[in-house]
Amino acid sequence: MVKICCIGAGYVGGPTMAVIALKCPSIEVAVVDISKSRIAAWNSDVLPIYEPGLDGVVKQCRGKNLFFSTDVEKHVFEADIVFVSVNTPTKTQGLGAGKAADLTYWESAARMIADVSKSDKIVVEKSTVPVKTAEAIEKILTHNSKGIKFQILSNPEFLAEGTAIEDLFKPDRVLIGGRETPEGQKAIQALKSVYSQWVPEERILTTNLWSAELSKLAANAFLAQRISSVNAMSALCEATGANVQQVAYSVGTDSRIGPKFLNASVGFGGSCFQKDILNLVYICECNGLPEVAEYWKQVIKINDYQKSRFVNRVVSSMFNTVSNKKIAILGFAFKKDTGDTRETPAIDVCQGLLGDKANLSIYDPQVTEDQIQRDLSMNKFDWDHPIHLQPTSPTTVKKVSVVWDAYEATKDAHGLCILTEWDEFKTLDYQRIFDNMQKPAFVFDGRNVVDADKLREIGFIVYSIGKPLDPWLKDMPAVA
Ligand code: UDX
Ligand code: UDX
Repeated sequence: MVKICCIGAGYVGGPTMAVIALKCPSIEVAVVDISKSRIAAWNSDVLPIYEPGLDGVVKQCRGKNLFFSTDVEKHVFEADIVFVSVNTPTKTQGLGAGKAADLTYWESAARMIADVSKSDKIVVEKSTVPVKTAEAIEKILTHNSKGIKFQILSNPEFLAEGTAIEDLFKPDRVLIGGRETPEGQKAIQALKSVYSQWVPEERILTTNLWSAELSKLAANAFLAQRISSVNAMSALCEATGANVQQVAYSVGTDSRIGPKFLNASVGFGGSCFQKDILNLVYICECNGLPEVAEYWKQVIKINDYQKSRFVNRVVSSMFNTVSNKKIAILGFAFKKDTGDTRETPAIDVCQGLLGDKANLSIYDPQVTEDQIQRDLSMNKFDWDHPIHLQPTSPTTVKKVSVVWDAYEATKDAHGLCILTEWDEFKTLDYQRIFDNMQKPAFVFDGRNVVDADKLREIGFIVYSIGKPLDPWLKDMPAVA
């Protein structure tokens, strides 16, 4: 029986290993983590992450060929294939601060693997890492190998949260990068034979190590670039009276462009996009390519611009001040169908409004008060450390309350901001909400989920990203 161990029981490691266990009954899969609470949650009825379909997969395999454990060393020792899916935060200090990846957790995982191994192993890079990390890891392993042979592979993850299980069942492609030596090719085949249990051969792409690593960064940069492109258009649409949804639809019907990832929004979030682009920028700079670095930096700049543009719209519409006004925030997760708040645009929007002294009442169906308070008081980039190593937030943000109902959040509010496209926000009783709000009552739709015309009939002043402006907003000072 082949044994697989995955270090890091997070959003990537957990679902990926659960699906491997489901699809490969003859493989024993152990998912290990240094966080005791995370492992306890994986072994309970309430899994540590919310992902449609995940519960069912875990229930079918857990205790049979899928195990969650904190005994990292034992399972690494026993494994033939070790996946590593630990955090790779952006450095906040020293060389490359604000851009480069901090590989501390990766390096210690590699040293531990070398330490406990008594048999040859394939080590698979699953976290997103800068190009040439595999080479560095390979050096750590071979210099500490005591005669044991390690083959390192890069097998980047392309799953998107909210559809992770679907993406794993039917991936567009699985990418495996390895050394171009006979041993490297043998390792690629060994991993390929795992995926080929359910993924068609032609969808399993094999490349050299660096192509695989770079493909991951490039794919995320291209996707984020589409969003920044459409968001840049949304600002122009507002200025000219065009409708960004109509423009995006027209553009997307060109089969060379395609319709996906063209939804204008308050900005992209998530653990990968910004981090991967920063990484790409850093690698370009280190390789003497400042023009290329500058090109990709713009994707992040437009994303930041979109968030601050949204805040400015809110403040300028409400007579240039939100001081001590109650603003309801509907949705805090970085997108619907997940409780994940990493790099969510809601953090910057809320901080912007708090900077203008607003009182916020926040509702998200999947995010806890504790998480929201932490996100709003944490330093940029601190989120990407194992939870028990994150600095505890010194104070709670007093002007923020977190409630468990959209009606409670909007009661007596002057305005409401929709920051996540949860389906339930489409079907709220907006007449009831309007009746209980201060007047004039404002809706700022950062995800284009509400029917603006209907809301205007009720009496709301409505701002929708990239849509022709409400007459009210037209008379307000132009936003930065
Ligand atoms: C993704 C990416 O793969 C990764 O590159 C990025 O840095 C974070 O996002 P993800 O699974 O979403 O990974 O991250 P997360 O949910 O934070 O899971 C990482 C897990 O690794 C945590 O549970 C953490 O406790 C664990 N970990 C971290 C270890 O087990 N050992 C360590 O030394 C460090
Ligand atoms: C992304 C990649 O899609 C995935 O392949 C990679 O492995 C990890 O990063 P994820 O972060 O889970 O996945 O979410 P994704 O669906 O890509 O959305 C990212 C952000 O972009 C979200 O904030 C989302 O709301 C936003 N978005 C997406 C838009 O604003 N408009 C769009 O048209 C699409």
